[in-house]
Amino acid sequence: MTKDHPHSVVEAMGNRHDYLPAAGRDALLPGYDLLTRLLGMYKLHETLVAQAELTADQRVLEIGCGTGNLTIRAKRTQPGAEVIGSDPDLLALARAERKAHGLNGIRFERAYAQKLPFPDQEFDRVLSSMMLHHLETGVKTAALAEALRVLRPGGSLHIVDVGGEVTPDDGLMARLLLHNDHARDNLGDGIPQLLRKVGFDCAVVASQRHRRLGRVTFYRGTRPN
Ligand SMILES: C[S@@+](CC[C@H](N)C(=O)[O-])C[C@H]1O[C@@H](n2cnc3c(N)ncnc32)[C@H](O)[C@@H]1O
Repeated sequence: MTKDHPHSVVEAMGNRHDYLPAAGRDALLPGYDLLTRLLGMYKLHETLVAQAELTADQRVLEIGCGTGNLTIRAKRTQPGAEVIGSDPDLLALARAERKAHGLNGIRFERAYAQKLPFPDQEFDRVLSSMMLHHLETGVKTAALAEALRVLRPGGSLHIVDVGGEVTPDDGLMARLLLHNDHARDNLGDGIPQLLRKVGFDCAVVASQRHRRLGRVTFYRGTRPN
């Protein structure tokens, strides 16, 4: 663990990394894609890609891409775009690379969202799916600031994550979320507040009760011109 990345939850889960992996532990990673299918995340990815309005000439980055499902969907939706998936987890990236085999103009890089190895204003779009709730507050703020830095003026960050205006009526997962310290920043207008704090213009695009995830909310952060 480095001092830069405080990860009490990660430690509590017995995870040896300084980040929380996709399925919580390396040993569970082989089941991650099946789990995401059962959770209905493919539909959320489809909606997020549509929200991002990708065009052929764009450069697109996903932060926290895990096994690459959203990154690959973005590429298949807009084959002319240049798409990069990034994640600190080498095991997940290896799976992503295998799945993207044969596609051109897509690559995967090891990177922490809070310290992206890309120049300023490099991307037209940044995507983030189910990643922010993996980060502690300070890291989350740093990650959003990095997304702003790597976006060109007028470029946009598109986020889908658990949280938003969650109520106990949203179901069991929602009730768990409401009592989970780690997810606290994702509740209410926590994410819009963080987006504005780092300099984005922010919109809540949609928020929906989700049968398996409680509540999911879609956000757009635009880097002002
Ligand atoms: C639930 S998975 C989501 C993966 C993918 N975006 C999807 O929608 O299937 C969360 C991902 O965030 C990654 N992650 C955790 N900490 C991170 C960090 N500091 N920077 C970037 N990614 C991180 C994990 O390794 C994991 O792959």
